[in-house]
Amino acid sequence: MSVTTAIQLVTRGEAATAGTGTCSPDLVRDPWAFDALPMPSYGPGASVHDQAPPATPRQGELPEDYRTASPEELDRRILAAKDTLGESVVILGHFYQRDEVVRYADFVGDSYQLARAATERSAARSIIFCGVHFMAETADILSTPEQSVILPNLAAGCSMADMADIDSVTECWEQLTALFGTGRDADGRRPVIPVTYMNSSAALKAFCGENGGIVCTSSNAAAVLQWAFERGRRVLFFPDQHLGRNTAKAMGVPLEQMPLWNPRRPWGGTDEQTLRDARVILWHGFCSVHRRFTVAQIEKARAEYPGVRVIVHPECPLPVVDAADASGSTDYIRKAIAAAAPGSTFAIGTEINMVNRLAAQYPEHTIFCLDPVICPCSTMYRIHPGYLAWVLEGLAEGRVLNRITVPDSVAVPARVALDRMLAVQP
Ligand code: 13P
Ligand code: SF4
Repeated sequence: MSVTTAIQLVTRGEAATAGTGTCSPDLVRDPWAFDALPMPSYGPGASVHDQAPPATPRQGELPEDYRTASPEELDRRILAAKDTLGESVVILGHFYQRDEVVRYADFVGDSYQLARAATERSAARSIIFCGVHFMAETADILSTPEQSVILPNLAAGCSMADMADIDSVTECWEQLTALFGTGRDADGRRPVIPVTYMNSSAALKAFCGENGGIVCTSSNAAAVLQWAFERGRRVLFFPDQHLGRNTAKAMGVPLEQMPLWNPRRPWGGTDEQTLRDARVILWHGFCSVHRRFTVAQIEKARAEYPGVRVIVHPECPLPVVDAADASGSTDYIRKAIAAAAPGSTFAIGTEINMVNRLAAQYPEHTIFCLDPVICPCSTMYRIHPGYLAWVLEGLAEGRVLNRITVPDSVAVPARVALDRMLAVQP
């Protein structure tokens, strides 16, 4: 059963069929209901209470015939436009997209695989990115200048990525530079290496490219941190504190050498000596989807399903990762399930669309989400077949709608940081 169908059942009061409740009754509405809100917001789902910055990209009104078309009509129109466009268009989809969108993707993957896919699809004139804004920006940076990258709904951002902006990171960097200077130590290492998670704006990737830093994803964070430790005494890791903490702890870095930098506090809320002793300075960012997972949920799963294997995404808080059997990127989770003996039981700590899809794909296993409440990623949810049909039919008529373009002044240094990441062998 797709997440959308489960939400419809719950809101119609048939929760017993769906097996659970939802985090917001607004999830039953289509995403265009939120495009027109006067203030930018992430919309219903896990990030509904996060503060969207005033400059958050907004999606204009989707034309009425796409809003009122039935699922069957949208299906017919999407397939017809894809057929007309042939090899000139490729649709990339993240694992967290709704099933109603994933079914049209030519390639589905985690954010690392999707970045690689963007470098490998040079035959397509257009890349339609069914994912979120930072992924489309990365695809634009890595694709050829002749290719256009399209994000079907411009409001599909990422609240975690928005927790680190270029001004706050630059301010932090200036303070760290004032404290540590810029000189290298006797081993040739810099005082601080900036590492940005893929879930960040292109401006932050450019910042890393310009300052000897690098990008990581959840699938290569340990190898990237190793790269950074070889080149620097410390790492400034943004925006996700949890991925940074979980990865560095697994590499043997003590927690007391990982202070948190809160950009709203003087000296990030820490002090000079702690910063001097630090190995990893963690930015105060988090994912509202993954912070819903708790140790209590894991204990409950273990009590109810003896022998259950608990796998969580490394964006989950440290106690959750420690209590789980394993943690890894979305593709790591997929592969672990694919490799399991039939009859295995999995409790998964990641986005609900992906968990439900895995449960449907592997009926020989018992697979469920650790969180009993259906609460999708608010921004992945903003992509709907209606927007996909709109951008595809636009392309078929020669109009490039919702193009994501990163200016060269940002794209060139951002590419330096991305190429460093692509060269690191996990
Ligand atoms: P992956 O890199 O594991 O696909 O994760 C991306 C993401 O946004 C997780 O919240
Ligand atoms: Fe961003 Fe979290 Fe959604 Fe991933 S799941 S896109 S980190 S808000």
